[in-house]
Order: sequence, then structure tokens, then C-alpha cells
Amino acid sequence: MEKNFSYRLTHKSTQTRARCGIFTTPHGEIQTPIFMPVGTQASVKGLSPEEVANAGAQIILSNTYHLFLRPNPDIVEAAGGLHKFMNWNKPILTDSGGFQVFSLADLRRITDDGVEFKSHLDGQSFLFTPESNIDVQNKLGADIIMQLDICCKYGTSKEETKKALDRTAQWLARAASHHKNPKQALFPIIQGGFYEDLRLESLNLALPYAKHGIAIGGIAIDEPFTELCRVLDVLAPHLPPQIPHYLMGAGTPDYILEAVARGVDMFDCVYQTRVARNGLAMTNTGTLNLRNAKFRDDFTPIESGCDCYACKNFTRAYIRHLIVAGEMFALRLLSIHNIHFTMNFMEKIRESIKNDKFLEFRAEFYNNYYHISP
Ligand code: GUN
Ligand code: ZN
Repeated sequence: MEKNFSYRLTHKSTQTRARCGIFTTPHGEIQTPIFMPVGTQASVKGLSPEEVANAGAQIILSNTYHLFLRPNPDIVEAAGGLHKFMNWNKPILTDSGGFQVFSLADLRRITDDGVEFKSHLDGQSFLFTPESNIDVQNKLGADIIMQLDICCKYGTSKEETKKALDRTAQWLARAASHHKNPKQALFPIIQGGFYEDLRLESLNLALPYAKHGIAIGGIAIDEPFTELCRVLDVLAPHLPPQIPHYLMGAGTPDYILEAVARGVDMFDCVYQTRVARNGLAMTNTGTLNLRNAKFRDDFTPIESGCDCYACKNFTRAYIRHLIVAGEMFALRLLSIHNIHFTMNFMEKIRESIKNDKFLEFRAEFYNNYYHISP
């Protein structure tokens, strides 16, 4: 019988915990470390699936919270699942909504049973239990699904963080026993805030359920950068090496570089497409704000040498004009470029790991992009 999921490590850095691997899913292979563009509502904002794939994406992330509210899981299921519904034939990961309920929904009440929340769209009340959340993700049909969890705000007390991690672990056991579809890999989520002992406790509670992968949640929530490094330093030696490690909601170059060095394999972030809406372009020498008047008559591409659709065909001056004129094509071009840039960045990270030059790559990148030497 063919296995639905497997992870094969291909290279291990001798310098750091960085590694390269191939994660096989029912919709194809993913080269890790990998960045997953975000398609919250079954669309990477403004782009066709073909454009997302051409920008180099191997897997995208979508959100259970949003698709549950609209159009609703039965419609996606009737369409033949998320892949068919949105015409994306590569792997998809759906987040459980644990995080969105806490960041978007208006009112929520957490009990041992689950989380009650009011839709940010029309105020209607709903309940997610670990089981009902699995039912929803089963209907959506993504390759990788996430457990329902509780993500605490930055600065939450130790007592409350401990309660949230205990509930998260209980919900994991319930989600795992409810989930039956072998074509969907369920990833547990490690919580525990910024308390080192709680992180280790949460990891140990998650391990028995970490069959195909494991995720680290509760970071990239406005904490100081060094806090991420501290948490990952504690977790890294204990992460099971034979499965991929996913850092949720993180995907700026600095977070990626530090996390890869600590053994993280998967990332997602709205940054690339969100900042595109503000006119920001990522380049090897740092970010450019294309709104700036100095680009008015700059007839070079966003980044020379970049072979994305935007850079091959358009100039900074043209894109600046589109931004200033409020044309949505600007958002599309910048999103294409930023996703392409990040996919290319991941490719360079993988190459550097293969050549055992990751530390050199990281130092050079910091120097060129952030103009700092670590
Ligand atoms: N996305 C970013 N952080 C988190 C988290 O802690 N939990 C979930 N479910 N999704 C996230
Ligand atoms: Zn480009």
C-alpha cells in the first residue's frame, strides 16, 4: 500500500540544526524548508492559482475559520473539496481557526468543550469543538490540517498560559481520535507562550500525536524578536527529526533565517501579500516603498535579475504610477514579486544547507537586506 505522507531528510547542516527534506503529500511533494503563501479565503489575494504556482509556490495555506463562515464547508465539499473548488492541484494546509477565533471573532467563550464565538461578518454565534473543527476540515479536504488550539496573547500570565496549553493538549487528543481520513495529516500544535518549562510540557503532550508533522504556535504575536529565538532554542533539541516542523504565522526573512537555523521546515505569513497592498517590495538589498516619489521616473525593474512576471515586464515607475492611481494591478504585481522573492529566498536557503554554507548565507543576507551583521 502506498503511503499518503512521508518525510525524507536529504541534507543536514553541520553548522546549525538547519535541514533539507522532501515532504510527500497526496497532492505532491514539498521541498523543505518551505514558505506557504496565504490564501485565507481560498484565494491568494488578487492572484490566480496559475500565478501563485508560477511565482514558485509549492503549497498554500487556507483558513478554516473564514471558509466555515463563508461559503461554508458543505459547499466546498459539494464542489469536490478545496483543491477543486479553487482549482489548485498542489498541496494545501488549512489552519484550524484556533488563532483566527482569537484575533478576529468578536466575542468568544472558551470552555473545556470548545470555543464559542461570534462571526466577524454578521455577529452570528458558533461553537467549534475539537471534533466539529475536524469535521469542517475533513469537508474542506486539505492535505494537512491543524488541531483546534488556544493561542494566548503576548504577555499572558503563566497561570493562564498553562490552562490554555492543557486545554490545547486535551483538544488534541479529542481531535486525533475523531480524525479518520488517512489522506489528511493532522498536525498537533505546541503552545506554552514564552515560558520555557511550559513550552517543553506542551511539546511532550503533543509528541504522541505527531505522526506526520508538528507545529509551533503562539509566536509572531508582537513579541520581541529575541523571544522567538529563546523559545525555539528550548524546543529545537526535542523536536522529532523524522517529521517536518512548522512555525505558524511566521515568514519575514529574519524569522525564517533564525527558525531554519533551529530546525524549522515550514512557514506561512500574510506579510508578503499584506505589504504589497501598501506598495512595499522585498529585494535582496532590503524593502522598497514604491509609493516614494523617487521612483517616478525609475525605469528599471523592482529588482534587476529577478525573473518574476512583474520584473520581467514592468518598471518601478509604472508600478508606482499604478499605486498612486489606485489601480489594483499594482497589488497583483507586488504580490507576485514578493511571493517569488520569498520562494527564491527559500530555494537559496535550501542550496546553502546542501552546500553546508547556511551560516555564510544568513550573514550575507542580514548584511544586504537589513544592513546589519549579526
Ligand atoms: N497561526 C499563527 N499562530 C497560530 C497559532 O498559535 N495557532 C493556530 N491555530 N494558528 C496560528
Ligand atoms: Zn520580481
